[in-house]
Amino acid sequence: MRRGLPGVLMGVVMAVVLSGCIGSEQTVAKGDPDKNQGPTEAATPEYVFTYAENQAEDYPTTQGAYKFAELISQKTNGRILINVQAGGVLGDEKSVCEQLQFGGIDFMRMSLSPLAEFVPKLNVLQLPYLYRDADHMWQVLDGAIGKDFMNSFEGSNLVPLSWYDAGARNFYNSVRPIRRLEDMKGLKIRVQESEMMIGMVEALGASPAPMSYAEVYSALQTGAINGAENNWPSYESTSHYEVAKFYTIDEHNRVPELQLCSQPTWDKLSMADQETIKECALESAEYERMLWSERERKSEEKVRQAGCQIIELSPGEKQKFQDAVKPMYEKYCSDYMDIVDAIIDTGK
Ligand code: GCU
Repeated sequence: MRRGLPGVLMGVVMAVVLSGCIGSEQTVAKGDPDKNQGPTEAATPEYVFTYAENQAEDYPTTQGAYKFAELISQKTNGRILINVQAGGVLGDEKSVCEQLQFGGIDFMRMSLSPLAEFVPKLNVLQLPYLYRDADHMWQVLDGAIGKDFMNSFEGSNLVPLSWYDAGARNFYNSVRPIRRLEDMKGLKIRVQESEMMIGMVEALGASPAPMSYAEVYSALQTGAINGAENNWPSYESTSHYEVAKFYTIDEHNRVPELQLCSQPTWDKLSMADQETIKECALESAEYERMLWSERERKSEEKVRQAGCQIIELSPGEKQKFQDAVKPMYEKYCSDYMDIVDAIIDTGK
């Protein structure tokens, strides 16, 4: 995957730190030079935190991270600085999350699939074919159910801050168009490092290959795997569309994402600072969601123009995919079937 340059903020922080002049410089937190809010008179930074993001610089979640950093710097007058490290330079999601648990890294944005290995109840929110559409998912996450999940992190050493959008995921591969459930047979499909995603690909008749996001491009290129699954912006941003041209819109699941703080980091902060961080996370999430819908459209347009073959499943075939994964609800979420039912009933 493309490795992004370290953020502008990092440059600023490093320059200040290296010159030994903390507190005597003006500090600006920003990701997009066009959106520079202008310098603020900086207080001496009391905290300089690290934020890990595995997407490229221009990706909506990365831009959301820069917005978060910018807001925090503004609201604390430079007392709290967030150093956003994009492009996966700090490692894959699983190992970054492990570092968050003991405070080696302070913040990250993470997909719920690998996160559910740390907080299993989260599998409920990414069950295949659970939501009718994006609005349904947001009604759930922004409502009482989403809040209950935010309170389910006890003992995980992770503090959830806000939900980010990641659209719906679809299958793609380099071998053939997937038009029917039988077309999945024999394909080796990369999945996220998640038991439930492994189970989903097995239930659909293909063979799962769990690996980190950064490894997928070369695995596709060398033929170590035949395909993968992801949303439009990831398919486009990683250039997977150049090496796996058949993209089937089956929308098998919506996997929301979370901004997280390390519990040891959180415990160092005053309640007022915790409150500020929460507010900035929520504000950055609104920004990310807005960028997300724009980027989904642009990415789809770009891969269509590049000549990828985009396949829409017929309603009858989609039903076969749905039926094939139905047993997963009991298998992975048997303790939470009441919540699953409440989600299905939301907005009806
Ligand atoms: C999405 C998500 C990433 C994740 C990736 C994956 O792109 O935003 O955080 O790593 O899916 O498939 O691993």
